[in-house]
Amino acid sequence: MILFYYLQNEIAMEEVQPSHSRQSKTEYMDLKEVTAFESKRKEEVTLGTPQVERSSLGTDYAPLHPSTRSWEIPRNSVTIEKVIGKGAFGQVAKGTAIDLRGRTGNTQVAVKMLKASAPESDRSDLLSELEVMKTLKPHPHVIRLLGCVTETEPLLVLIEYVPYGDLLGYLRKSRGLNDTYFKDPDIKPQTSLTSEQLMKFAWQIADGMSYLSSRSIIHRDLAARNVLVGERETCKVTDFGMARNVQQENIYERKTRGRLPVKWTAYEALMFNTYTTKSDVWSYGVVLYEIFTVGGSPYPRMDGKKIAGLLQQGYRMLKPQHVDDKLYQIMMNCWQNEPKARPPFTDLTKQLKDMENQHKKLINMHIYDNQQYAKVEDLNV
Ligand SMILES: Nc1ncnc2c1ncn2[C@@H]1O[C@H](COP(=O)(O)OP(=O)(O)O)[C@@H](O)[C@H]1O
Ligand SMILES: [Mg+2]
Repeated sequence: MILFYYLQNEIAMEEVQPSHSRQSKTEYMDLKEVTAFESKRKEEVTLGTPQVERSSLGTDYAPLHPSTRSWEIPRNSVTIEKVIGKGAFGQVAKGTAIDLRGRTGNTQVAVKMLKASAPESDRSDLLSELEVMKTLKPHPHVIRLLGCVTETEPLLVLIEYVPYGDLLGYLRKSRGLNDTYFKDPDIKPQTSLTSEQLMKFAWQIADGMSYLSSRSIIHRDLAARNVLVGERETCKVTDFGMARNVQQENIYERKTRGRLPVKWTAYEALMFNTYTTKSDVWSYGVVLYEIFTVGGSPYPRMDGKKIAGLLQQGYRMLKPQHVDDKLYQIMMNCWQNEPKARPPFTDLTKQLKDMENQHKKLINMHIYDNQQYAKVEDLNV
């Protein structure tokens, strides 16, 4: 049975106590903190360890096709203009590049690179991000790789530039709040988003994730901050820094300690370190919450360290008042305890696409409580 904890008071309290902490710092927790609880649980739970064929990027990739070499471009063909975004790990600048493959002349690009003080592990994450992106074909709902500079320092990964920045900031800006991640949108968002637009964002992300899962890629960091908004407000999944390509069992077992986006991470990934496409489906459910609350924070005011324990007792986020039962049911399906019981991304895409075109408004923006989800954090850095 699923127990529900009543959270309304907690949400209300958050409004009067804006936090000044930077989001990217609070969303990723050190694994030691998260799993102090977990190691205790492991003694109690007699779940057999799944048969895991661990894949590491170094060994599981087929030799690169010779054409892959052509991703490499000379450093002097890239002009970096200014930093436009910072995540927990790297930074992203706007720039241009000349004569990228298949494109003559100047192309506007986003350049992903390390922060000055980045540890070696961040460098290997950026390199594995690049390797994952090289395996992808262009897809409308996944960000595209355009080139890279790896033979000279600094390491640069060039991806398609999007004018509206990340989805979380886009949603929050539509309510007049500031963005933590994206500094310089070329195009300001509309001041209020319709129920249809929110539904469109939802199915497009599911569609991008369907493609990634069809390529045996587990994202592991799906969140609205890692979805970009491109031309015609099209959502594109990005930030493959934690992604893994799994060929065999479709399970990735986390071996090393590291930073974890706790509030987006599936129960079994927090508890047993196992990641599958179904753990991405869990995160997708949290992204739906972010979208439908127009940039609200999941589990507001809840301490990340307590999340694993609460999920284990059956706690799930409550239905926001303005969200239809049908949509909430989809979110809850994504958060089923049993990973196999969660819907595949193909079904989610179809279901949400059908709903976009329904007459009935499934998100009632008239009763949306702007106060409840306002001031989710102090977003000024
Ligand atoms: N292609 C892009 N076009 C425009 N802005 C981007 C692009 N890629 C990233 N950004 C901005 O930079 C932020 C950090 O990028 P991300 O890839 O998530 O890096 P990190 O691994 O550091 O989290 C994003 O949240 C977004 O605001
Ligand atoms: Mg990111």
